[in-house]
Amino acid sequence: MENNSRRGFMGMAFGAVAGVGAVASLYAMKKSWDPLPSVKAAGFTTLDMSAYEENVLITEKWRGKPIFVLKLTAEMLKAMESKKNDMERLIKVDGSHYMVTIGLCTHLGCIPGYNADEQNFLCACHGGMYDASGDVTKAPPPRGLDIPPFKIDGSKLILGEVGEEYKAMKENGITL
Ligand code: FES
Repeated sequence: MENNSRRGFMGMAFGAVAGVGAVASLYAMKKSWDPLPSVKAAGFTTLDMSAYEENVLITEKWRGKPIFVLKLTAEMLKAMESKKNDMERLIKVDGSHYMVTIGLCTHLGCIPGYNADEQNFLCACHGGMYDASGDVTKAPPPRGLDIPPFKIDGSKLILGEVGEEYKAMKENGITL
């Protein structure tokens, strides 16, 4: 009799452990089905640019790549007005002009650094330089910083969606 109840207890204990194990492995399987955080972030990224400060480089992440957003000052804009290519690279949101680019050097993919005093980007890998519109000013980069697909919605910038402004840039050969 005592033996029977002992076996019953052992059986229940074993069953409980097996049950916990089954739940744990189901949880692990469910986790492996869920998309990775990086995949979740791989769709669209919305940036509210209304609080961005002038001449302060913002670095965001989109599809695993660094994205540079730079709000231009009136002086920077004035200096660029004579360069058509620079102006066409800029995005206008709520009356302000912004540079939005993928923050990877178009030479071999290093991340250029922004010098707020000089208002330009220097790629430390091989000395390539870009101006504040992201256009290349010193080789070896073969072209300006690439512009990611984007759409403007009020003061928001949606990375990953193709809006009219991006389509126009593409038609004009400003971006890939
Ligand atoms: Fe930037 Fe070579 S990777 S200059």
